[in-house]
Amino acid sequence: MPLSLRFVVPLALALAAIAYAVVPLVDRFTFQWSVRDLDARGALIAKTTQDTLVELLREPRGSRQRVQRYFDRIVQSERVYAIGFCDRTGKLAYTTAGFPSVVHCAQGDNAEERNSVMQLEDGPLHVSVNPIVADNTVLGNLIVVHDMSFAQRRSADTRKYILYLFAAIATVVALITVIIAEISWRGWVAGMRALLKGETLLRSPMASSTASNALATTPELRPIARDLQALVRDLEAERQGRDESQTTWGPEALRRILRQDLKGDEVLIVSNREPYIHTRRRDNVIEIQRPASGLVTALEPIVRATSGTWIAHGAGSADRDTVDRHDHVMVPPEHPAYRIRRVWLSREEEQGYYYGFSNEGLWPLCHIAHTRPVFRAPDWEYYQTVNKRFADIVAQEARTEDPIILVQDYHFALLPRMVRERLPRATIIAFWHIPWPNPEAFGILPWREEILEGMLGSSILGFHTQFHCNNFFDTVDRFLEARVDRETFSISHGGETTEVRRYPISIEWPPAALQVQPPVAECRARVRDALGLRRDVKLGVGVDRLDYTKGILERFMAIERLLELEPRWVGQFTFLQVAAPSRSSIDEYQNLDARVRALADRINERFGSDGYQPIVLKIEHHDAAQVYELYRAAELCYVSSLHDGMNLVAKEFVAARDDDQGVLILSQFTGAARELVEALIVNPYDIEQSAAAMHLALNMSPEEQRARMRSMRNLVQDFNVYRWAGRMLLDAARMRHRRRVLSRVRGAAHRQAGAA
Ligand code: G6P
Repeated sequence: MPLSLRFVVPLALALAAIAYAVVPLVDRFTFQWSVRDLDARGALIAKTTQDTLVELLREPRGSRQRVQRYFDRIVQSERVYAIGFCDRTGKLAYTTAGFPSVVHCAQGDNAEERNSVMQLEDGPLHVSVNPIVADNTVLGNLIVVHDMSFAQRRSADTRKYILYLFAAIATVVALITVIIAEISWRGWVAGMRALLKGETLLRSPMASSTASNALATTPELRPIARDLQALVRDLEAERQGRDESQTTWGPEALRRILRQDLKGDEVLIVSNREPYIHTRRRDNVIEIQRPASGLVTALEPIVRATSGTWIAHGAGSADRDTVDRHDHVMVPPEHPAYRIRRVWLSREEEQGYYYGFSNEGLWPLCHIAHTRPVFRAPDWEYYQTVNKRFADIVAQEARTEDPIILVQDYHFALLPRMVRERLPRATIIAFWHIPWPNPEAFGILPWREEILEGMLGSSILGFHTQFHCNNFFDTVDRFLEARVDRETFSISHGGETTEVRRYPISIEWPPAALQVQPPVAECRARVRDALGLRRDVKLGVGVDRLDYTKGILERFMAIERLLELEPRWVGQFTFLQVAAPSRSSIDEYQNLDARVRALADRINERFGSDGYQPIVLKIEHHDAAQVYELYRAAELCYVSSLHDGMNLVAKEFVAARDDDQGVLILSQFTGAARELVEALIVNPYDIEQSAAAMHLALNMSPEEQRARMRSMRNLVQDFNVYRWAGRMLLDAARMRHRRRVLSRVRGAAHRQAGAA
């Protein structure tokens, strides 16, 4: 039933019922009113005729005809039905034509019966008996008879008019009801829509203007607006959560988000390390290298899926030779899918910004690995210069006013604010790939306020774990004048808001490097052959950059302890440590290199014998396919980071084991330990515990390995890198949507204000 009929039908029924009850009542009143009317009229006729009648009655003979004529005239002129006259003796002396026979003189005897209504067959008659008096003597009674059929007609008319009246009232009330209902409904709907779009949220800053009054929601909505908005937010979050868990996360899902949620908006990535490095070999041949960087491993599949632009430092010796005149190079070389924009840095700039401030300052500052940070003023200068250079290049590369810019890591803490100044409408998502320290640790940085302010230029700021987000909140709370809202996970500073979120990074699933792998048995055989190991020797692997945060020394000490405690593994167990050389011009890294080599040598000397080395150390770069082969060949993988944002090696090892075998030993100080809880979680500083974990791993039954590995594989599959990026992009899309609504509302406000 249409909405308006739902109002009108009950209204019409109610009015019809009232009319039905009212009509007999009105009928009765109208009749009584007519009777009273005729009572008065009868008396009036008697009064006005009295003098003439008395005269005629006193006349001598012959006056009878005159009385009769007089009565006939009255009947004609006064619209009276009939007249009769009863003389003193009670005899009906005169009557006009049609005087009803049922009316007789006795009716006037009783004063109360002088006026009466008689029901005859032809209809009701009103009889009024009035005494005619002369000189205090009653000469007789004048009987005036009125036909009351007019009263019946009047009643019928009244009934009809009442019905018309009620019908008219019903129509008018129904019309008014429908119109008002329609107007209010539209107001409610508009109000609801505004609420659902979050417009009322955005309206408050303009509360005082005329325009805002014009824009105000239906007043009755206001009290519930806040609750409703909270509900909508919850529903949105729930829907997003549901959508997220129901999505099959892969390149297609990312492309869909870009197409549908971001409407094809432009995506730019900024990182220090580039995903493809062109280097010139001694024989002058140009080689392409993939760097050992968790960040690159994670972002490469994203930028492929989004066909964006990746802006990075061109650090390779042949990088300049391979770009076009705009410093662009299309990659991957086999199937170009996106472009790198290379940024050139002088040797001094690289030294100050990258080696100095980033890796001797911020890196040890953020990692609890007991290496002192070094902060030099010239490094800080270079850090600012290089961040500014990148910000200029981002603005140059952007084809639109409001691109999505993914800023990566601690090399670019100042960049978000600088980009915000150049592209105020950009959505800047900064991701901090390393841990964030507590305020005490961070407080030693001489330029801590500048770094924090730079980061808060971001629209969204991401960390791997909630713990790091909380540390960041505490740090901002301690050092900046900012409003930290831990309920909505946001920070407001200088009129801008940054959402701070946890996005645990991951790897692509299935990993491209796995596609080219032979079966596990073949990998085992090949790796053992290459290392000169017997086929039955158990193999452990460690894959890292040669970095003091990775706990490689502690790992070797645990291996030594294992061999001490369980000599049966001597000759039966080999640990292959792959360490990609990293930041080698920094003293700390050179020292580490020397110490790692020395410790491996000492342990090998102690437990090695002809052709057997418990530790095989390969300080050289390995590509992804080689690393995946090692993962598949090993019984265990040991990740012993002393502090690590996430650690993707742990996830890669799990992804590589499609045979559901192999044991992961994982440091409790990695972000990954929060997700991969089926690993053997250890404190890498606790050498005894770590040695025991290795022993346990080497003895673990295939069933237990399978159960643990399957569960970890499911997790990495579900929470892969596409989901990591997808969640950030969805959050960016939500933010951009809100901003568009806000600008529409503001536009409308300006127009309203202009019109007012
Ligand atoms: C860590 C950092 C990355 C960096 C990578 C390799 O994973 O978070 O930003 O790229 O180490 O270090 P490098 O200095 O060689 O780029």
